[in-house]
Amino acid sequence: MMKVVVVMLLLQELVSADMTSIKSRKVVPVMPEKISRCELEKEELILPTLQVCASFCSLNNDCNLFCMNGTVCSLYNAKVSTWWSGVTPGITVSYDVCYTTWYLENNLTPFIALTTASAPLSIHRDKQFLANGFMCLNMDHFCYISQRVSFPYWRADLGAFRRVTLIIIITRPGTLSQFEMIEISLGNSSDYNNPLFASYTGPAPPMSNINFQPQNPVTGRYLQVQSKLPISTNMAMCDIQIFS
Ligand SMILES: *[C@@H]1O[C@H](CO)[C@@H](O)[C@H](O)[C@H]1NC(C)=O
Ligand SMILES: *[C@@H]1O[C@H](CO)[C@@H](O)[C@H](O)[C@H]1NC(C)=O
Repeated sequence: MMKVVVVMLLLQELVSADMTSIKSRKVVPVMPEKISRCELEKEELILPTLQVCASFCSLNNDCNLFCMNGTVCSLYNAKVSTWWSGVTPGITVSYDVCYTTWYLENNLTPFIALTTASAPLSIHRDKQFLANGFMCLNMDHFCYISQRVSFPYWRADLGAFRRVTLIIIITRPGTLSQFEMIEISLGNSSDYNNPLFASYTGPAPPMSNINFQPQNPVTGRYLQVQSKLPISTNMAMCDIQIFS
């Protein structure tokens, strides 16, 4: 009964509302199986259209991703970027279509040509998870965590000189969320010994957005994120967004 009322209201809304107000971008509809941990709702739709599924997403403040599979609409708070490839270790699940409502303009992250980093804590904490365009913070992996070492680092070759204005790093949930005394450098030296872009003292709260924004944009190709903590430490990060 409740569901019918909701659908009626939605239909009414669909007729009157401007559907273009729900901004979204298509993404590769293949996700790690563990995306279920970021599931908000799963509904069998009476009127199984993308628009109805999009409306359900827009009515849920935590919804960042909606997927349709047959008549089933699934909503997630996973953050999936347009450059997500669908390729990931482990089991995946497929949908007919998926749309992200989480996208940010002028993002240079997809230009990353090569990453290197201090050894990860395990294969489920590999460097690739930082910039692969998929993030579900309710999962116990799919973030990068370095082993406990002196001055752990994560490096990215941006493929060419890029003008960078802002970098946002999302920290990890839980106990292994160390992100402290961080320095980001950016420049043209391939040995990654480059001028400071911006720094952050911390320690950072888990699951937070940390902004690195210099007074003036910096142009460079080689980017390094490093903890300068004077004792051995893990460095954990779930996502990096680099903006021009
Ligand atoms: C989507 O539907 C296909 C075909 O019925 C099925 O194989 C697949 O497991 C479904 N995906 C999800 C995420 O339920
Ligand atoms: C890197 O080289 C570009 C192009 O020559 C230059 O504009 C930029 O200022 C250089 N970056 C740094 C950090 O020196």
